[in-house]
Amino acid sequence: MLFDIAPKTRREDLYDFEHELRELHKSVEHSRLIAILAPRRYGKSSLLKVFLSETKYPHIFLDLRKMVIDYGKASIRAFYECLSDELTEFICKYENIGNKLVEALKHVKGISISGFSISLSWSRRSRANIATLFEKVNEIAEKHDVKVILALDEVQELRNIINVPMLLAYIYDNLRNIVTIITGSEVGLVYDVLKLEDPESPLYGRVVKEIRLRKLSYTEAHEFLKMGFKQLNVEFSKELLDKIISEVDGIIGWLTYYGWFIAQYKAADTGEIRKKAAIQAAVEVKRFLERSRSKERYYNILKAISSGIKRWSDIKRFLEAKEGIEIDDSTFNKLLKMLIKFSFIRKADENYVFNDPLVEYAVKHLL
Ligand SMILES: Nc1ncnc2c1ncn2[C@@H]1O[C@H](COP(=O)(O)OP(=O)(O)OP(=O)(O)O)[C@@H](O)[C@H]1O
Ligand SMILES: [Mg+2]
Repeated sequence: MLFDIAPKTRREDLYDFEHELRELHKSVEHSRLIAILAPRRYGKSSLLKVFLSETKYPHIFLDLRKMVIDYGKASIRAFYECLSDELTEFICKYENIGNKLVEALKHVKGISISGFSISLSWSRRSRANIATLFEKVNEIAEKHDVKVILALDEVQELRNIINVPMLLAYIYDNLRNIVTIITGSEVGLVYDVLKLEDPESPLYGRVVKEIRLRKLSYTEAHEFLKMGFKQLNVEFSKELLDKIISEVDGIIGWLTYYGWFIAQYKAADTGEIRKKAAIQAAVEVKRFLERSRSKERYYNILKAISSGIKRWSDIKRFLEAKEGIEIDDSTFNKLLKMLIKFSFIRKADENYVFNDPLVEYAVKHLL
């Protein structure tokens, strides 16, 4: 069903993205590290999951945002437990290489196996070594002449708990039967985490195959909504479709949410749906603000842009008026850069604009 609000896992539920799927299938044959990048709700997890459901290669999928949600925050313990669960699933699902992996891991420090369950110790004294673990996975894959895909959904969540560039570089350089696919919503942040251009970084100079997802065009968004409503036998008017697209643009996650809501509650008024969606968006902005050191400043910049102040000098003046002090250009630029890194805003010609109209609405009306 097109309007299912969980990430899609089957191609028949996936609208389009044919080209990106083909790219993924091609890339696993030739690339060692693949990045699916786009702001929130553009369909990254859906694309990745549908791809994994089709590929002939065994895979380990880690939903790193779920790890943060389940455990309250990212931590080494959360990561190790999440990885233990996924490895357990891996050995059950791919019995043949699973059995071999169990054998190979039996005597590795920090890894305990009971029946068909793998458990990685995260305690300081006996912590399992992740590189050794993947070495074993690689050895088995090599023997069976297959590749194993390691999929890290929302990789930036790992940034404060393990040395991500070091691990990815190690896999890239040494474990030739493992292909890593990462996704990230905070597009700029992902590149910060990978540090590809930092000569000091272990990943420096490595080639990343990048797949960027885009918003649907007006015509595609129209078609998507039409197909979704028809699938559920829900009547709709062209005005309704136009209204939805005017509120959420071509962001497929929001189009799905609106479609699902209308079908579910037979609601024809988008006002209520917009408010509900904006509450979710507001939570995400608040989470960013709470975690940052310049909360007030980011808040004021976002407020300025949401109220129509979009040029560099005007936003700066707004911020200075709020604080009653002069802010130097480089400090101000750093703030803007960070908001771009987190995919809240982008630069469009001389203006700074929101990437997501519902985030803009949330900042304007709910924050
Ligand atoms: N190609 C598609 N066809 C149909 N529905 C889609 C498609 N892509 C995404 N969706 C729907 O849009 C919503 C967001 O998708 P998904 O979770 O895959 O995006 P995401 O980019 O991973 O989002 P997030 O940044 O929140 O993790 C979900 O409800 C999903 O079912
Ligand atoms: Mg996702």
